[in-house]
Amino acid sequence: MEIKYNLKPSSQRRSEPFVPEGDVGFGVHRTDHMFVMDFYDGEWRDPRIEPYGPFELMPGTMSLHYGQAIFEGAKAFMHDDGEIYTFRINKNAERMNRSGEIVCIPHLPEDMQVKAIQALIDVDRLWFPRQPGACLYIRPFIFATEDRLSVSPSNRYTFCVMLSPSGAYYKSGFSNAIRLLISTKYHRAVSGGTGASKAAGNYAASLRAAKAAADMGAAQVLYLDANNQQIEEVGAMNHFHVLKDGTVIIPKFTDTILKSITSLSIMELSEMLGCEVRQETVMLDKFIADIEAGEIVEAGGFGTAAVVSPVGSYIFEDGRTVTVGDGEVGPKVKRIYQLFTDIQNGKVQGPEDWVVQV
Ligand code: PLP
Ligand code: COI
Repeated sequence: MEIKYNLKPSSQRRSEPFVPEGDVGFGVHRTDHMFVMDFYDGEWRDPRIEPYGPFELMPGTMSLHYGQAIFEGAKAFMHDDGEIYTFRINKNAERMNRSGEIVCIPHLPEDMQVKAIQALIDVDRLWFPRQPGACLYIRPFIFATEDRLSVSPSNRYTFCVMLSPSGAYYKSGFSNAIRLLISTKYHRAVSGGTGASKAAGNYAASLRAAKAAADMGAAQVLYLDANNQQIEEVGAMNHFHVLKDGTVIIPKFTDTILKSITSLSIMELSEMLGCEVRQETVMLDKFIADIEAGEIVEAGGFGTAAVVSPVGSYIFEDGRTVTVGDGEVGPKVKRIYQLFTDIQNGKVQGPEDWVVQV
C-alpha cells in the first residue's frame, strides 16, 4: 500500500511535544492529521494522510440513515526509551473485519489497517500526551458513503483513522470503584443481532440505558441477556468477577458479547498473574447470591478505553444495591491493572508482538 502524504504546512503543525493543561481527558483532543482510504468499484483505493478535518458528505449518505458503520478502539504508549509502541492493533484489525462481516462492510486487509495506524502515529508523534498514564487513543472506523436510500449494503465506503491523546475513560480513574446499573428493562443485544460487532448502532442503542444509569448514580449499565438471566457485558467493556480463591471469571463470549482484546489478553496472562482466568456462563441470581455470601470478592470491567475498571457495587432498577466485598478496589483488580499497564508501558516484558514500535 502506497500512502500519499498531504500534510499540513509545518507552520500549522505541532512542533513540540504535547503537554496537556490539566487532565487530558478521554477522546477530546485531536491530532493534526487523519488517515483516509475509500472503497468503490470493488476495491480499497487512494490511501492518504491528510489534515484532520470535515468530510464532504451528501445528505443521502447511507451510514447516516441506516447506520452501516463500524469502529475500533486501540492504544499506543510511550516507553522509557521515548519511542511510541502500539498495543495489539493486529487484533483490532481482525475484529474490524469480523464486525464488517456482521454489517456487510467489505473486508479490509489487516496489514493495510496496521500500516495505516502506524503511518499516522508516525506523522503525529509529537501529539503523544506528556502526562502520567496518558496514551494515544486510536480510533479506526469504516462507514458507508453511497448516496442512496434503498436498504441494502452500500457500494462505497470510507476507512478513516483518527487519534486522540487521552487519559482515563471514567472520570473517577482507577482509584475509585464504579457502580453499575443491572438493567432488566434495557438490552444491548439479542442473539442473531449485531452485539458481537463494534457496529455504531450498538452504541446508539445503549445511550438511553446509560442515561437511566447516570440518573441512578451508576457509571454504566451491566447488560443481561434478553431473558434477564445471564450477565453479558457493560456498555463499553466486558465484565469480570473474582472468586474467593482468586479465580477470575469472564462471561463466555456469545454473539451478544463483544470479544474484548483486553479480556483475551488477561486470559493469556493467567500464568503471569498466578491465577486461573476462565470464561463461564454467569447466571444473575447465582452471581448476586455469591456476592452476598462472600464467594465473589471483587468485580470489574475490561476494555481498551476502560483498561481494568474496578466495580464496587451494583444497583437494580428498583433501587436495591449490592456491594462487592468492601466496595473498594481489591488486590486482584489492582494486580491485573498493574501487570497489564506495565506490559503496555514497556515496564514488564509481555508476550511477543503485543507491543510494536512505531
Ligand atoms: N464491550 C464493548 C461493548 C466495548 O465497546 C468494548 C470496547 O472496545 C469492550 C467490550 C472491550 O473490548 P476491548 O478490550 O477490545 O477494547
Ligand atoms: C474502546 O474501549 O476502545 C471502546 O471502543 C469503548 C468506547 C469508548 C465506546
